[in-house]
Amino acid sequence: MQIKATDQALLNWTGDLLAVGIAEGATELQGDLATLDEKLAGTIAELIADEEFEGKSGTTAVSRVGGKNPVRKIALVGLGKAEDLKLDSWRNAAAAIARLAKKEKTLGISLPNNLANDSASNIAQAMTEAIMLSLHEDNRFKSEPESKEPKLETIDLIGFSGQENAIKKGLTIADGVILARELVNAPANEVTPVTMAETAQKLAQDYGLEIKILEAADCAQFQQGMGAYLGVGQASDIPPKFIHLIYKPQGTAKRKVAIVGKSLTFDSGGLNLKPTGSGIETMKMDMGGGAATLGAAKAIAQLKPNTEVHFICAATENMISGKAMRPGDILKASNGKTIEVNNTDAEGRLTLADALVYAETLKVDAIVDLATLTGACIVALGNDIAGLWSTDEALAKEMKAAAELAGEKFWQLPLEEKYFEGLKSQIADMKNTGPRPGGSITAALFLKQFIKDTPWMHLDVAGPVWAEAAGGINNKGATGFPVRTLVNWVNS
Ligand code: BES
Ligand code: MN
Ligand code: ZN
Repeated sequence: MQIKATDQALLNWTGDLLAVGIAEGATELQGDLATLDEKLAGTIAELIADEEFEGKSGTTAVSRVGGKNPVRKIALVGLGKAEDLKLDSWRNAAAAIARLAKKEKTLGISLPNNLANDSASNIAQAMTEAIMLSLHEDNRFKSEPESKEPKLETIDLIGFSGQENAIKKGLTIADGVILARELVNAPANEVTPVTMAETAQKLAQDYGLEIKILEAADCAQFQQGMGAYLGVGQASDIPPKFIHLIYKPQGTAKRKVAIVGKSLTFDSGGLNLKPTGSGIETMKMDMGGGAATLGAAKAIAQLKPNTEVHFICAATENMISGKAMRPGDILKASNGKTIEVNNTDAEGRLTLADALVYAETLKVDAIVDLATLTGACIVALGNDIAGLWSTDEALAKEMKAAAELAGEKFWQLPLEEKYFEGLKSQIADMKNTGPRPGGSITAALFLKQFIKDTPWMHLDVAGPVWAEAAGGINNKGATGFPVRTLVNWVNS
């Protein structure tokens, strides 16, 4: 399948399906659309009337164009209100059209590129990402795919000639998102700490990244020993793999950053075992942060921004066995801080503690961690919005701008120091969990204990890494959130 920018006029386009965008209320055809309608013997006006098409965002209507017309079918797609147009309007429209056109060979898309402040390149990139991501279905684990592969051969973005680079960028970023989705969708007997490390090795080879894999013994040697991370993994039969991938631009980098992704390839809860009904069977997704980290690495390695990026995944499994850490055990993190594990199911923060200490030794300008960290964050913000905490307002602003461009949603929550009292331990420096209220905030405050002075941000992505239903650019299952935000941030 090929996505092309074309300077061919709407009226001259020929092929299977021609999709035109219509803003809400703009159903009185004008200009080129009126001429096209005349050419098609009134099919468009008839379609609008028959389907009571109003141009609402994401809605579609499709009709066959009879006779010997050079266009076989015409589709209308709603863009929503003209005054509300933003990149997401193009994204949703392009996704809706791509789904509609799956069985066609050639598709022409004519969406306005002059109605908003967004540049044509941003629009072309957004449409490309939306097409690739809405068409992506993960059929790797079915002996027979449920739905047929898309037949699409060429997709023309009408009126976007000159945007070849933007399309290429969109394809590269979609590729990174799809890697993240495939890592999250794959079950925990397929994606293990060992295979995650292999995936990272492959990225390093294919795109010329540096890589270090710390084995358990290396982790035990790091500073005062990564007792928190190793404690979580100690009941697993699969060895932990501490993955550190490095992208270095040519010449001097304008900035150095670290991206740290929670990488629990399975979270059983440990001895505080997750009960049936708690979603234990979905806990293959608990490496969603690490998956997005590797997905971002894949895109960034190809886009080659002028920023040095360290990608870190402390991969392991939270299992039970005679070797498991017990509730009440005290673990020592690599910075010497001691943790009373009052709940073995709050394991992500234990692995991140050592990963953050490690990241800070790299002398980067900013550290961003992303983690499927708490159910409490889902309770607070729902499934579509990630939580964001930061010690640095400038960093928070940067990430929010990157997210806005990507159409991925974050909401900033406070690092309310007073709540750290809930993590005070009688016997150790801190406990790993506090009271139920504010559970995603105390998790963030816990992580903050392992950062000294580097600007830091924590993203709780427990909700948005997974979609319960197809919609917009997502299909049911892993979403690849927030690869696009991370890539935009590093590229900015
Ligand atoms: N991986 C879970 C959080 C999670 C829950 C992610 C649902 C995605 C969907 C995390 O390790 C966890 O178990 N957190 C506990 C913390 C509690 C013990 C303080 C939680 O949220 O219940
Ligand atoms: Mn857990
Ligand atoms: Zn977890």
